[in-house]
Amino acid sequence: MMKLSLLGLAMGLVSQAAVAATSAPPLENKQAFIDHLISQMTEAEKIGQLRLISISPEMPREKIREEIAAGRIGGTFNSRTAPENRPMQDAAMRSRLKIPMFFAYDTVHGERTIFPIGLGMAATWDMNAVAKVGRTAAIEAAADALDMTFAPMVDIARDPRWGRTSEGFGEDTYLTAKIGQAMVRAFQGSSPANPDSIMAIVKHFALYGAVEGGRDYNTVDMSLPKMYNDYLPPYRAAIDAGAGGVMVALNSINGVPATSNTWLMNDVLRKEWGFKGVTISDHGAIQELIRHGVARDGREAAKLAIKAGIDMSMNDTLYGEELPGLLKAGDVSQAELDQAVREVLGAKYDMGLFKNPYVRIGAAQNDLKDYYGEDRLHRDAARDVARRSLVLLENRRQTLPLSKDATIALVGPLADAPIDMMGSWAADGRPNHSVTVREGLRRAIEGKGKLVYAKGSNVTGDKAIVDYLNFLDFDAPQIVDDPRPPAVLIDEAVKAAQQADVVVAVVGESRGMSHESSSRTTLQVPANQRALIEALKATGKPLVLVLMNGRPLSIGWEREQADALLETWFAGTEGGNAIADVLFGDYNPSGKLPITFPRSVGQIPMYYNHTRIGRPFTPGKPGNYTSQYFDEPNGPLYPFGYGLSYSTFELSGLALSGNKLKRGDTLQASVVVRNTGKVAGETVVQLYVQDASASMSRPVKELKNFQKLMLKPGEARTVTFNISEEDLKFYNGQLQRVAEPGAFNVQVGLDSEAVQQQDFELL
Ligand code: BGC
Repeated sequence: MMKLSLLGLAMGLVSQAAVAATSAPPLENKQAFIDHLISQMTEAEKIGQLRLISISPEMPREKIREEIAAGRIGGTFNSRTAPENRPMQDAAMRSRLKIPMFFAYDTVHGERTIFPIGLGMAATWDMNAVAKVGRTAAIEAAADALDMTFAPMVDIARDPRWGRTSEGFGEDTYLTAKIGQAMVRAFQGSSPANPDSIMAIVKHFALYGAVEGGRDYNTVDMSLPKMYNDYLPPYRAAIDAGAGGVMVALNSINGVPATSNTWLMNDVLRKEWGFKGVTISDHGAIQELIRHGVARDGREAAKLAIKAGIDMSMNDTLYGEELPGLLKAGDVSQAELDQAVREVLGAKYDMGLFKNPYVRIGAAQNDLKDYYGEDRLHRDAARDVARRSLVLLENRRQTLPLSKDATIALVGPLADAPIDMMGSWAADGRPNHSVTVREGLRRAIEGKGKLVYAKGSNVTGDKAIVDYLNFLDFDAPQIVDDPRPPAVLIDEAVKAAQQADVVVAVVGESRGMSHESSSRTTLQVPANQRALIEALKATGKPLVLVLMNGRPLSIGWEREQADALLETWFAGTEGGNAIADVLFGDYNPSGKLPITFPRSVGQIPMYYNHTRIGRPFTPGKPGNYTSQYFDEPNGPLYPFGYGLSYSTFELSGLALSGNKLKRGDTLQASVVVRNTGKVAGETVVQLYVQDASASMSRPVKELKNFQKLMLKPGEARTVTFNISEEDLKFYNGQLQRVAEPGAFNVQVGLDSEAVQQQDFELL
């Protein structure tokens, strides 16, 4: 009967499911449309919708298309481009109900044009720059026939041993939430249904960044107030900004894996936050419930996951295999199944796929000749964001900016490293599109100065590490070593340095060192690179260290060797040009650290907004019985919010509009910021608040607002922040979100440490 009603309907862009039966409600009525569709579905078709399948190059395409046509797959990830995805959508259109597929991918910091990694984006403290990343990525991804991205990643990371620190936006709740929101809005545009929008799936819900010891996939144990105050808000912010979906974390939380955590998934996400979108497990996470020790077998794992509210199973075997039996036995109800299906269909609806299953695939005659072409790139946007992401950590004796007429020795294992420049999770970025530091410098000084290049060292001298990194799941070997002995490499670099006016050494981590499954026990620059730095220093030439890395490194020693130190993260396709812009002063650096740089791994966890304690360490007042390490200076190497410029800025006259705040009113904090340098530059004025006396010990300070502004030399401007009751709220011991009356103080600075302070009282 179904078949009959379909016959004779004109084939158009509108999915046939939309008109599957004469009684079908109009497509405009989402709820009725989906309910009706569900009422037409067999149990097998429903289960099929919950399966999200990874398409690898080796996978037999014919088999996949058969599965899709049989209604056994809901969506895929990792395949991209219209010629690749169209046959799968065609297969879906041959299925009984013609429910469209969706195509997802990890478009995290770019799709073809690669932008700085998450930490770099966060270092811009610039929401326009962040939006540019998300929008450009969406445009390119949609043109790659993708409907959905597994991003943004908003896991707060306070243990830089964790390799995925690189993907997130740092240690701070407020900054991360802001960026997460900006990314969601930029990915989705005015609607995730738009042809140039992709749906954002915020991840990894929840607390993945807090894995014990920074060891990937490890467990998380955390108090509820800490969770609610520090770790959960960024996910919620992304959801409030309209993120269509949530990816569920691989870790357990206080003993219960997120994937089977009904409290997390139902009570918090659905009930408390009112989330209506789709939830997706992480890769293989349902199966892993067995090894977590909460499910006896695959059947129980599938049951726990669906009951917890995991709608889609990533790279599924278990939902497909086990749900039929579970439904038959009554262990999973029809209603539970239908709810998951409803959310998957709802996401497809929101992506505009029922209206037009080919909305992003387009018509075959419009397929690009070359999906990997230069003409697909947005280089200007990438260069603009990349230079904003660079953080100047040291600049002694004004070593920077460099003269373009100079002879520059460029050395280091990362100076000419196109793969590393892209950072991890670089989607479909191509190394041959990357501008390395060598290429960027070459272009900048062409016809003027001279560049002498020598590699100087490999990334690491540890063969076991090279083997591990090359084993990681990337398309090509990550590290190709120079086989010459280390001493020969160093000699060559020293000779280059001796001929030069200045040495620029590009050192740090290869991209695979800051990736999923790349936790480290040390934050040091590898020993062979330090040997190179030592030899370069001994030449007596001015030494500029350009750092590439995906986590804070403990660079106390390097700081002493270097005359200038520039943190560049992994800056993306245009990284080399952006770095040259800063090194030669064509761009005045304005980035600020979104994460604390500890002195050593032993200080971890080290983050600026730690809870107050009874015996705090007081700088300048050493003494026993305060909270400190006796074998190393205390405090961070570089604090959160820190970053230099070629200008100097001065803050003065922090004033509050009053010393009492009535609920419902606002208080103004204003401060004068002056450019006391010789060049125009941008800086970030940061507003922190401390709840001085509360029902619980509160953080020493918390970022509540910031403003980035450009000032001409000598120019002064008053920056004003509004503070309201809302800014003073926190989750107390009973998990009530309250602003408690009493004393507060406002701290304003150009980093989190050097602040001016004023007090007020909330009535
Ligand atoms: C990662 C996710 C990612 C997924 C799909 C997993 O290993 O944890 O962040 O989205 O793979 O590629």
